[in-house]
Amino acid sequence: MNENQRLEGQQVQTENSSDKKSSKDYSKYFETVYTAPSLKDAKKRGKEEVKYHKDFDLPEEFLGMGQGRKFYIRTYGCQMNEHDTEVMAGIFLGLGYEPTDSVEDANVILLNTCAIRENAENKVFGELGHLKHLKREKPDLLLGVCGCMSQEESVVNKILKTYNQVDMIFGTHNIHRLPHILQEAYMSKEMVVEVWSKEGDVIENLPKVRRGNIKAWVNIMYGCDKFCTYCIVPYTRGKERSRRPDDIIQEVRQLAAQGYQEITLLGQNVNAYGKDFTDIKYGLGDLMDEISKIDIPRIRFTTSHPRDFDDHLIQVLAKGGNLMDHIHLPVQSGSTDILKIMARKYTREQYLELVRKIKAAIPNVTLTTDIIVGYPNETDEQFEDTMSLVREVGYESAYTFIYSPREGTPAAKMQDNVPMEVKKERLQRLNALVNEQSAQSMKKYQDQIVEVLVEGESKNNPDVLAGYTSKLKLVNFVGPKTAIGKIVKVKITDAKTWSLNGEMVEEIEPVEVK
Ligand code: 5AD
Ligand code: SF4
Repeated sequence: MNENQRLEGQQVQTENSSDKKSSKDYSKYFETVYTAPSLKDAKKRGKEEVKYHKDFDLPEEFLGMGQGRKFYIRTYGCQMNEHDTEVMAGIFLGLGYEPTDSVEDANVILLNTCAIRENAENKVFGELGHLKHLKREKPDLLLGVCGCMSQEESVVNKILKTYNQVDMIFGTHNIHRLPHILQEAYMSKEMVVEVWSKEGDVIENLPKVRRGNIKAWVNIMYGCDKFCTYCIVPYTRGKERSRRPDDIIQEVRQLAAQGYQEITLLGQNVNAYGKDFTDIKYGLGDLMDEISKIDIPRIRFTTSHPRDFDDHLIQVLAKGGNLMDHIHLPVQSGSTDILKIMARKYTREQYLELVRKIKAAIPNVTLTTDIIVGYPNETDEQFEDTMSLVREVGYESAYTFIYSPREGTPAAKMQDNVPMEVKKERLQRLNALVNEQSAQSMKKYQDQIVEVLVEGESKNNPDVLAGYTSKLKLVNFVGPKTAIGKIVKVKITDAKTWSLNGEMVEEIEPVEVK
């Protein structure tokens, strides 16, 4: 938040204060009532150091706020958002709210939104439309929009103008302010907007309610400084800032002690972990090395940027053990020219060289990726470079997208001569290739025995259990419910394109880690 916004917020607060639903003076709780996002501010990267706040406590005066009230959070987008939802759920419970899985039953509904592509945003606007009737039926219901879309000026303006059923909008840097924002929304007739555009802080000890007790996400860093030309994330999530190694290691130790079987280290660009430390030289390789010594069977990380993927990390991953042999390594395009326009800062050849090094060190590795097709002015030849790279690397799976212009990013200003029909046709061809490679990679499991971390009943059939292999292959199999939460051996009887079917052969003891 910059100084102007702070002042602006205070002014609005004074103007609105006469409208309050209660005469009690709550102004001491609210530094700001109205802080709108600014993409321009979000873009700035200052030299100021990251501030660590280690002593987060829920403000005592709000502790009973949720008595007799229920909350519902709908999450869109990536694991980072899923994890933010776990934190917000922790705050709600701390305030005395109860969770509910029905919007009809809720007293507070939050939409934790994703801004990565236009269709993700359209889903949210659609949902806001669907929820409007609930506000009419239940006037004391609070409806909030948070997450990445809240960080965009255009979205906030659109909501302010046309979605007056919304009571509060808050940003990705304001999650810890949820108690204040809720209180203000209860007190104010106006829509409460609190979106800080620039934030350099790391807040430890936020409460969390994790979804399940088998797998857990652990944030290792926040934000992104890469500014790939198509991507809104550096604007919505702020500058790169890493959590201190000790805090991360302590969290993972606690999760291990609680019996979690798998953790995934999270960040928008985890390979940049530690680059912001001024007092120590410590990167993702060092962190993975230390975490691998903790007694937890499976450790993963996401998402990687090829540019910062260093040799030390490869050496550490090559030790195997509880470090999983699956790497998600987004390439985005196989054309050096397109990569340059995307500002990815590597060439096709450099990416392939990194893949060669990884495969040499970890011969059994599974690679998956993200790819964007139909970048502005992408030629047939450039698209064919992507197809050939997919074959050459031999990805076993890929998330594929048609480029979606994001307002405020450099790519959104580029002229684009590729018709949508052509983009769609390219996506179809790419998907056909990815499907073929996935099916091929599954075939080798036919009649083999794999280790599966069992997560629960299969979505479609409660008589069947489901879980994932170390390489993140989904396995549906017949086995006893007592296997849930354990790593078991399953014999594969049917290899499909995206999943494997099998039968449990025996339960194994949790893996002994060095
Ligand atoms: N259009 C299409 N895909 C995008 N991604 C990020 N921004 C865009 C965009 N503007 C994709 C990238 C990224 C993944 C999370 O989403 O492939 O790796
Ligand atoms: Fe977006 Fe990832 Fe590029 Fe960061 S590294 S700008 S999150 S695509």
